[in-house]
Amino acid sequence: MQPEDHVCLCYHVSLRKLTNYARRERPAVASQLSDCLGAGTGCGWCRPYLQIIFDDCRAGRDPQISDGPGEYAIAREAYRAVRRAERAAARAESSPDVSQAE
Ligand code: FES
Repeated sequence: MQPEDHVCLCYHVSLRKLTNYARRERPAVASQLSDCLGAGTGCGWCRPYLQIIFDDCRAGRDPQISDGPGEYAIAREAYRAVRRAERAAARAESSPDVSQAE
């Protein structure tokens, strides 16, 4: 991933913005990277990557995300599809079964 590639695809937050934010603001925990343009507050896919950025910046390293932007986006879509299916299953489980109602 290159610095201008988006880590948070929901809010279009680049690796460069997140790295600069982490270095400048020195958040206490990775979840505080959400203060950088809402990163991580959408689908949740990028949260493990925010942790990598946080950890690398804390250690004084340049954050490295080995996935290319294409494979990263494809993996996110698969993640979102699984989440949609899980939500649909949870809704179906929690709604009353009208076929057994008398
Ligand atoms: S990709 Fe960051 S919250 Fe969805």
